[in-house]
Amino acid sequence: MSTALITGASRGLGLEAARRLAEQGWTVLAGCREPASLAIPDGTDIRPIALDVTDDASVAAAVKEVQDAVETLDVLVNNAGIAGAEREIAPADTTAEDLRAVYETNVLGPVRVTHAFLPLLRRGTHPRLVMVSSSLGSLQDMNAGRWERYPHLAYPSSKAALNMISVLYAKTLADVVVTVVNPGWTATNLNAFQGTQTLAEGTDAIVAAVTDTTGPSGRFLDRDGEIPW
Ligand SMILES: NC(=O)c1ccc[n+]([C@@H]2O[C@H](COP(=O)([O-])OP(=O)(O)OC[C@H]3O[C@@H](n4cnc5c(N)ncnc54)[C@H](OP(=O)(O)O)[C@@H]3O)[C@@H](O)[C@H]2O)c1
Repeated sequence: MSTALITGASRGLGLEAARRLAEQGWTVLAGCREPASLAIPDGTDIRPIALDVTDDASVAAAVKEVQDAVETLDVLVNNAGIAGAEREIAPADTTAEDLRAVYETNVLGPVRVTHAFLPLLRRGTHPRLVMVSSSLGSLQDMNAGRWERYPHLAYPSSKAALNMISVLYAKTLADVVVTVVNPGWTATNLNAFQGTQTLAEGTDAIVAAVTDTTGPSGRFLDRDGEIPW
């Protein structure tokens, strides 16, 4: 049976992706900061794993727990992310400190988790790494006008960094299919449920990337196909 670890699976897109994959018969390790409070749908093989992506010790403990539970991992989904409190601050007024929490979660988190889980992942079948990014991280889209919808430094630049990190993983990890996904603007806690897509629509690209064993590696996709970096 295929196994996937999803970070930030306590709610929103991560929980819905876990639910959809488990419904298809996957064993899903659901990374959560508070695993005891995870609501697991009946009849699904969703196993809560304590995992704070900003904490080395938590990630190391999660590796051991996953290894003991399933031995190998087929897919790692770096989904945990935050918008940050700086969203109302103009670039000119943003301090380095305003970026710290968002970068800790959205940039250092995926690197910490990927580095720690790569050995387990490489023992999986057709190993895949899925990075949950955003069109706000697209330099091309932001330059073309999207910046007017979100003229703030932390979140877009964190996702742009994640995109570059993902390109470099794709270029250098010959045995892993790396896919970067943009869920689209989906009603979750991240945007105070203002997003216009449903959770089902928002997880289409994530589920497609998880279940695609062939690649090619190094693409940036939304639910309709390839999008610009
Ligand atoms: N919703 C959208 O419109 C949209 C669009 C583009 C991209 N995205 C991306 O999609 C991903 C999921 O976001 P969402 O919309 O589902 O938001 P959400 O409902 O706020 O969920 C975010 C998840 O990340 C977890 N998380 C936050 N910090 C964490 C940490 N340090 N360690 C582990 N988990 C942590 C949260 O866990 P807790 O419950 O413990 O806080 C929660 O499970 C994010 O990467 C986001 O940037 C979302």
